[in-house]
Amino acid sequence: MTDLSVDLGFIKLKNPVLAASGTFGYGLEFSPFIDLNKLGGFVVKGLYFSPRPGNLPPRLVETPGGLINAIGLPGVGVERFSEEILPELRKYNTAIIVNVCGESNEEYASVVERLNKEEGISAYELNISCPNVKKDGLCPALSPKDTFSVVSLVKKSSSRPVITKLSPNVTDIVEIALSAQEAGTDALSLVNTFLAMAVDIETKKPILANTFGGLSGPAIKPLVLRMVYQVVSHVKIPVIGIGGISSGKDALEYLITGAKAVEVGTANFIDPETTVKIIEELKTYCQKKGIDKIETIIGTLKV
Ligand SMILES: Cc1cc2nc3c(=O)[nH]c(=O)nc-3n(C[C@H](O)[C@H](O)[C@H](O)COP(=O)(O)O)c2cc1C
Repeated sequence: MTDLSVDLGFIKLKNPVLAASGTFGYGLEFSPFIDLNKLGGFVVKGLYFSPRPGNLPPRLVETPGGLINAIGLPGVGVERFSEEILPELRKYNTAIIVNVCGESNEEYASVVERLNKEEGISAYELNISCPNVKKDGLCPALSPKDTFSVVSLVKKSSSRPVITKLSPNVTDIVEIALSAQEAGTDALSLVNTFLAMAVDIETKKPILANTFGGLSGPAIKPLVLRMVYQVVSHVKIPVIGIGGISSGKDALEYLITGAKAVEVGTANFIDPETTVKIIEELKTYCQKKGIDKIETIIGTLKV
């Protein structure tokens, strides 16, 4: 029997495969397609304190090997999530991670303070990196100073482990990762989407109503693998890899590079069973190679 579990220090996952925020609804939407209990965990859609409608359409455009979204973080808000959704999620035996958003540092802290009162959440993932909420794509994860201040405030407010989700839209991702580590984050997740745009040659207008959106999907995997490699060589805390993962092979590339776990995003839209198929593929790989514990392959990259 292959042991697929991975220990992030603050949480032990039954396997390293999580579903990524914003591509998996609140989890329940996927329960008709897959057994959620099989997952290492899932990250729910980003939550602000109050409900939000998100951006105006068009909010999605496909590109070769990718998807650009400018959804703009619509959501039910923290109260309805706690009252109506979380009681349903508690029935599942898997890690439930809440993706926390805020328009100010104080809003991040108040979302966390409200959720601290609820049972059944394994960790918070701090979304300081969404490129399509403001038209200029600005967010705290673009600056070491802003990253430090939001992460340290949330850590003070949180009764649970905090995973800080970084943006790829920076010159030096290691600098931001070190800032988040210094501020006390328990783990890092890399990355959110790449700031992007698409043009309609008939109308000569940007396709997305927001002009800019965030690129995800297979096109970004090599870029993110490079960032994960750079970051794991510099930090002491666990790193979760996110970007373009749609197969066991993709997930293995991240684990070998040093990610302790992975999140699967855009691929869930193509096949809602992707996450469980990846778990099966990891199991098959380990069995073929005679690997008893998947943890032993983490960070085994030979450079
Ligand atoms: C439609 C869509 C919505 C997303 N919403 C969120 C979100 O609410 N919070 C967040 O942190 N990331 C969000 N993301 C980013 C993903 O979680 C993930 O970081 C990114 O898509 C890269 O992974 P992928 O290439 O596997 O899709 C969203 C991505 C997509 C495509």
